[in-house]
Amino acid sequence: MVLKEEKAILVGLDLNRNDEDIERSMDELALLTETAGAVVLDRVIQKRNAPDRANYIGKGKTEEISALADMHEAELVIFNDELSPSQIRNLDRFFEAKVIDRTALILDIFARRALSKEGKLQVELAQMHYLLPRLIGLGNQLSRLGGGIGTRGPGETQLEVDRRVIRRRISDLKKEINSLRKHRALLRQRRKRNRYNVISLVGYTNAGKSTLLNALTGADLYTEDKLFATLDPAVRRGFINGEKEVLFTDTVGFIEKLPEQLIAAFQATLEELVDADLLLHVVDLSHPDYLNQIKVVRNHLAGIDPDYYQHEILVFNKTDLVEDSAERSYLLREFPSASFISALSGEGVYGLKEKIAAFIHKKRCNLKLYLPYSEGKLYAELQKRGEVYNVKSKPDHLEIVAAVDPDLAAKLDPYTNHNR
Ligand code: GTP
Repeated sequence: MVLKEEKAILVGLDLNRNDEDIERSMDELALLTETAGAVVLDRVIQKRNAPDRANYIGKGKTEEISALADMHEAELVIFNDELSPSQIRNLDRFFEAKVIDRTALILDIFARRALSKEGKLQVELAQMHYLLPRLIGLGNQLSRLGGGIGTRGPGETQLEVDRRVIRRRISDLKKEINSLRKHRALLRQRRKRNRYNVISLVGYTNAGKSTLLNALTGADLYTEDKLFATLDPAVRRGFINGEKEVLFTDTVGFIEKLPEQLIAAFQATLEELVDADLLLHVVDLSHPDYLNQIKVVRNHLAGIDPDYYQHEILVFNKTDLVEDSAERSYLLREFPSASFISALSGEGVYGLKEKIAAFIHKKRCNLKLYLPYSEGKLYAELQKRGEVYNVKSKPDHLEIVAAVDPDLAAKLDPYTNHNR
């Protein structure tokens, strides 16, 4: 169903952050709004110490925005934070226009961009969790306005507004997602058995992950200058410097205040992503806020795996758009192992491939071990985490040849010398 462009007014709170922060956050909200297919007519920012419990913004401001919305004939008033169910209910009484919060907006974008079966189910699950406590406030809007942003499910179906139906749907969705997950776990095991190195591209949305994936593998992935162009995990085979075969995966970009419901629904996908041998953290060097974006992404990664940094390579992308050499020397000092590339022009991509090859090579080292029989636990760990190539039983120890990661190598170090 193609809908006409909805007209929106954006509303944000400046909670004593500096002016630049709130402007950037509102810029991002504007970009999200456009990505969802609406046009931004105006934006209103209120300075407050904390959000108003009842209305999020002050009452006077609410009336002002309501008049503004009427004047512009806006169909949407979009708030820059997640609103509580009662805030939505209260605000709904003030506005002719539909009240949407940042979370609903992001969920809407995800709903329309999910392509795979699992992606669609995950988004729908997140939407249902968001909707359930908000049915009373939203129910009015859904029936009054019939369709549009905030009401669309994956595949453009209208969202259900019956509490009982939603509960049942949540439980069905969980079952379906679980069975798909089991299937994916099998595929992953197979990949591990085949000893592919898996490289995940992570980064803030629009950083250029899909473009880099294309540059690294020659695949033709969908890229667009919009937020969250890619949502589903894409797995591509590639070769690093002509010989080493690896698998690349690319999925949803991160963003500040990514809805909790989405993170919960995508948890398994995100865990798989971060579980890769190597994380290429792609950064849009031409974005004015890229340092903060690095922080946002790293916070998300740390929430999934606190040790993520052990296998992260920072990749500063879009160098073709940035001239500043002083900035580059600063970055080289701050992030000495980072790469600088333009995924679009290809500049620096060869060097990045060499870095990837070096990383993969260094990551696993082959060891000859003389492990006493008393170290049964360590042997079990070695079988689980490493690749055991050869085992010979000797009178008082096992003689083993294996490839292991640096952490395990450090643990096993005492057993690498036969004459110890
Ligand atoms: P999401 O899927 O939204 O998370 O985005 P992404 O990180 O996969 O970004 P994508 O590859 O879709 O690129 C976003 C935009 O940046 C597209 O318009 C690309 O053409 C552009 N882009 C990517 N890399 C470069 C680059 O090196 N230079 C320039 N100038 N533009 C680039």
